[in-house]
Amino acid sequence: MAAGLLLKMVGFCFWALFWLAGSATVSTTTPALAGGGEAVVVDARSAIAVTDDDFVCATLDWWPPEKCDYGTCSWGLASLLNLNLSNKILVNAVKAFSPLKLRLGGSLQDMLIYGTGDTRQQAPCAPFVKNASAMFGFSQGCLPLRRWDELNAFFQKTGPRIVFGLNALNGRVPMPDGSLGGPWNYTNAASFIRYTVSKGYDVHGWELGNELSGSGVGARIDADQYAADVIALKHIVDSAYQGKPSKPLVLAPGGFFDATWFTELVSKTKPDQMDAITHHIYNLGPGVDDHLVQKILDPSYLDGEASTFSNLQGILKSAGTSAVAWVGEAGGAYNSGHHLVTDAFVFSFWYLDQLGMSSKYDTKSYCRQTLVGGNYGLLNTSTFEPNPDYYSALLWHRLMGTKVLSTAFNGTNKIRGYAHCAKNSEGITLLLINLDGSSTNRIYVTSQGAHTPRAEGRRGAKGSAKQQQPRSRDRSTI
Ligand SMILES: *[C@@H]1O[C@H](CO)[C@@H](O)[C@H](O)[C@H]1NC(C)=O
Ligand SMILES: *[C@@H]1O[C@H](CO)[C@@H](O)[C@H](O)[C@H]1NC(C)=O
Ligand SMILES: *[C@@H]1O[C@H](CO)[C@@H](O)[C@H](O)[C@H]1NC(C)=O
Ligand SMILES: *[C@@H]1O[C@H](CO)[C@@H](O)[C@H](O)[C@H]1NC(C)=O
Ligand SMILES: *[C@@H]1O[C@H](CO)[C@@H](O)[C@H](O)[C@H]1NC(C)=O
Repeated sequence: MAAGLLLKMVGFCFWALFWLAGSATVSTTTPALAGGGEAVVVDARSAIAVTDDDFVCATLDWWPPEKCDYGTCSWGLASLLNLNLSNKILVNAVKAFSPLKLRLGGSLQDMLIYGTGDTRQQAPCAPFVKNASAMFGFSQGCLPLRRWDELNAFFQKTGPRIVFGLNALNGRVPMPDGSLGGPWNYTNAASFIRYTVSKGYDVHGWELGNELSGSGVGARIDADQYAADVIALKHIVDSAYQGKPSKPLVLAPGGFFDATWFTELVSKTKPDQMDAITHHIYNLGPGVDDHLVQKILDPSYLDGEASTFSNLQGILKSAGTSAVAWVGEAGGAYNSGHHLVTDAFVFSFWYLDQLGMSSKYDTKSYCRQTLVGGNYGLLNTSTFEPNPDYYSALLWHRLMGTKVLSTAFNGTNKIRGYAHCAKNSEGITLLLINLDGSSTNRIYVTSQGAHTPRAEGRRGAKGSAKQQQPRSRDRSTI
């Protein structure tokens, strides 16, 4: 059962409550008056972290219809190469965020070439072809410039901020230690970037590579070489955008967190050659796992990811770099997720908790795998109808502002709370997640650094979260 609840606190600020499942009464009556109880205490005196305004991000991938996992083929026509860009639901789903951040990439990006002049003599610009002996089961594909034009027409119509993941495997050779090495051959990437600039297409960021960090997925590259390649990309971007009013971000490595590897990349690109360090999250295991729901509803399992966020935050803080942390791709369960779990209501318990937890550790943006495609789409792969997590993403985007507030709950560990300054209004938005399927909790909300609240709460409709327009309130600066 889910209950939407709405609270407002007179004298301090407006509270919007974003309540995920379970049964509870939430009030801002002080525990003393009400005779004790469990309390959510929000420290409103200062922000502990700050996210990007367009924190919510989703991905589009390259997987063709022939991509199958454990006997099911869940990608349909959701590839960047074949997605139906005139579908009305898709258009409106992207528009609703104004802007949604969209990261274009995934495993096959490192096997994709761009149909610019430099590759024309080499081979015709053809899509990926199934090939069991090739990495990820497909041999090299190509993005025709005509398709890139169509994608950009779609972006111009729907307004997302685009992060494009570049092929980082061009020109590599096998090294004695099993990694791939030699410098990145950026000829094709550079001409693709120059083409993009010449057409006036807006790209928010260029990202180098996919899952080649640490021990890699399919292939790996040493951090020392990677840092040199990131610096090369920075030069390409600087030169292609010379004289333009704004330059896109340079992001890397779009891979799994590995403390040693990430530390070396940061230290060799500091202070300002890399704008964001991107990492991927698939902490629930393979999509075929039968225990995904148990993991999603287990507070200690969810807490397991905190150390990655915290370690990365520590590395960036101590390095003397301007680079910030992003989650560049997170689908929870790898190999395309699991139908009726990662595309169902239960997945919001994982997803919203991830958004809350990553924000606390100063993650600037969080890209959900996927907007559409696989079993973890925010939209249904065949109908484009929103899955439950689409609404979770949109609610977060509309309610949660950029300033993250320290939030503590002193009762059961089945209740998790995250608070941010509200977006586009005065006050605070509190996200409460109840992982317990049956218990009823009586919860008080109090804050430090605010006036003693006089408050009223009311129960909203089942399964919804509501926000009320702020009325006249004391101004409170956080
Ligand atoms: C939780 O914190 C509130 C407010 O500080 C306090 O009144 C209450 O007794 C605490 N409850 C528990 C179970 O510790
Ligand atoms: C794409 O979507 C449009 C609008 O919904 C529809 O008219 C068209 O038939 C679709 N194209 C394909 C190839 O499915
Ligand atoms: C399939 O992939 C292997 C390994 O990359 C390659 O040697 C072979 O030529 C490919 N076959 C086709 C038909 O592309
Ligand atoms: C780099 O790739 C281009 C094709 O994009 C090719 O023409 C060129 O020979 C390659 N350079 C090296 C050094 O292999
Ligand atoms: C997506 O839509 C199809 C067709 O209506 C349906 O069979 C499928 O179960 C839907 N997927 C989800 C996750 O609801």
